[in-house]
Amino acid sequence: MTFNISTSSFHGPAHMGQYRDVTGKVFDWDIMRLLLHYLVPYRLQMAESLLWMLIGSGLALVTPYLTKQAIDVYIAQGNYSGLAWIALLVLLCYTLSFLVDWRRRIVMSKVGNKILNTMRGELFRHYQVLSMSFLDQHGIGTLISRMLGDVGVINELLSQGLVAMLSDIVMLVSIIVVMLALSPRLALLTFTVLPFMVLATVLFSKKARTAYRDTRMSSSNLTGRLAEDIDGMRVIQAFTEEGRMSREFETVNRSNRDANIYAIKLSAIFSPTMEVLSMLATCAILWFGGRMVEGNTLTVGMIVAFLSYTSRLFQPILDLSQVMNTWQAAMAGGERVAQILQLEPDIKDTSDSIDIPSIVGQVDFDGVDFQYLDNTPVLHNISFSIPPRQTTALVGPTGAGKSTIASLLLRFYEASGGEIRIDGVPLKKIKITSLRSQLGVVPQEPFLFPGTIGYNIRFGRPDASDAEVIQAARAARIHDYISELPQGYDTPVLEGSANLSLGQRQLICLARTILASPHILILDEATSNVDLRTEGLIQEAVEQLLEGRTSLVIAHRLATVQHADNILVIDHGEIVEQGTHRELLAKNGVYAHLYQTQFLTSEAMT
Ligand SMILES: Nc1ncnc2c1ncn2[C@@H]1O[C@H](COP(=O)(O)OP(=O)(O)OP(=O)(O)O)[C@@H](O)[C@H]1O
Ligand SMILES: [Mg+2]
Repeated sequence: MTFNISTSSFHGPAHMGQYRDVTGKVFDWDIMRLLLHYLVPYRLQMAESLLWMLIGSGLALVTPYLTKQAIDVYIAQGNYSGLAWIALLVLLCYTLSFLVDWRRRIVMSKVGNKILNTMRGELFRHYQVLSMSFLDQHGIGTLISRMLGDVGVINELLSQGLVAMLSDIVMLVSIIVVMLALSPRLALLTFTVLPFMVLATVLFSKKARTAYRDTRMSSSNLTGRLAEDIDGMRVIQAFTEEGRMSREFETVNRSNRDANIYAIKLSAIFSPTMEVLSMLATCAILWFGGRMVEGNTLTVGMIVAFLSYTSRLFQPILDLSQVMNTWQAAMAGGERVAQILQLEPDIKDTSDSIDIPSIVGQVDFDGVDFQYLDNTPVLHNISFSIPPRQTTALVGPTGAGKSTIASLLLRFYEASGGEIRIDGVPLKKIKITSLRSQLGVVPQEPFLFPGTIGYNIRFGRPDASDAEVIQAARAARIHDYISELPQGYDTPVLEGSANLSLGQRQLICLARTILASPHILILDEATSNVDLRTEGLIQEAVEQLLEGRTSLVIAHRLATVQHADNILVIDHGEIVEQGTHRELLAKNGVYAHLYQTQFLTSEAMT
């Protein structure tokens, strides 16, 4: 008899402390209904695996009886040809249960993996429509652990737990019935250990549940911590804080170790306890059964059958306690997955959303207010217009709200006050895909996907020809670099773009946007990390790109925005000045001051 604490589901990384493992209700009909609907497409397969399980249980019941017959009837009477037949029958039973078990495992694991696949796909699709504010609030770790840990344990319940539970109950009841039918006295005697077993199981399950949760939580903390530390290894090494980080890691590492040891200790005492109880039952059968054989009220074969049934009696009890654990974990996981799936994206199309197939390019911000978090306003009363095909630049100190304005135009977040319009249509009324497919952005943090450089440039237009890709890369002044690489455009981008410099990443992102050729263009510090010479070279390409498009250009280096049709100076979420480069210089205000400082600095540098 073995007992394992379930560790079969994989737990992905989680941000420290963010992993909530709800102790949860044991049963919640709403969640169960949600989970069961995943089974609906597989009802036939579920029925099939239940059938195999029942047949398997039936076979398990028959073999001890056949053994009894073999001993009592054929061996006792010396009927050896009959014995051969019955031996053959036993062999047949075992072969059948082998086949049945094999088939059931295959059916169930197919169903299980298909459900897993469906749920993960559904979650992923949902992650993609949820807004940025949702992603801001939930750490990557939490979202990953929903996808792997929670979905895994739900799948365990659906694909195996439910069928196992039914079959365990059937098995338990039928063994009890068969034993009572064979010899009520001996059966009742054997059953005296049952209450103790149930008691031990109940006590254990309670503790195991907590232990199981602790191991999950601590291992997910460990993974989360590890992921963060590997990510920040440069900083750790640069500040020579390896010692302190090791000690901090050790704390998390140790609590995971202790949680595991505790769980093992629990099961280490549980299994032998069950073993002893089952031995007691065996002793009772041998002792009292033996005396009954002497008194001719029982046969030897019956004793053998009883021993065999007894050993099968306890497995379902163990399994059921195991299923209860899975059940509760799945309920908690289901609750968390449901929370996400039932979350309506706060930015979505409505029935009156319209397509604007070809944007002309008039952009209006009209008294826009915005805050990421309650009570911390970021933008206040932002009003400006960009006429079609003109360039507006945003300048201003760090944290002023420039990138936020860009995010609002892309409708990554919803303005809390005022209105943003494109071609006179409020952003809220434009279909999201219609809007975003015509907007192009080179973000402040250049992001590349694992894949080749070519793949990344093509990201917005997968059907672009090689010539078009090269043309875009040339315009972004990154073609020469790429073509010098041994694998050229097929060079893989490593995880975290580790094999590319920050400036190179920016230029690839720029090429990506050039290729997509959007109607409205947003450049957020698009060239902030390239050297001045390259920036000068790109300037021309950028000018070409800006030509004929409505553009919003954010830059710290004022030299790059001098030619803009309009410059907005943002400070503390408000527009403090606006005008052309000349006008602003003449005003001799914030901009003029900024410009002079930068001009002097660059003079001093050259
Ligand atoms: N996702 C977010 N959640 C909460 N606050 C945010 C978020 N993003 C930005 N902020 C806050 O909003 C303010 C404006 O940030 P924003 O990124 O727009 O500044 P910025 O002008 O682009 O600065 P920089 O020049 O450094 O890029 C900052 O105070 C910042 O802390
Ligand atoms: Mg910014």
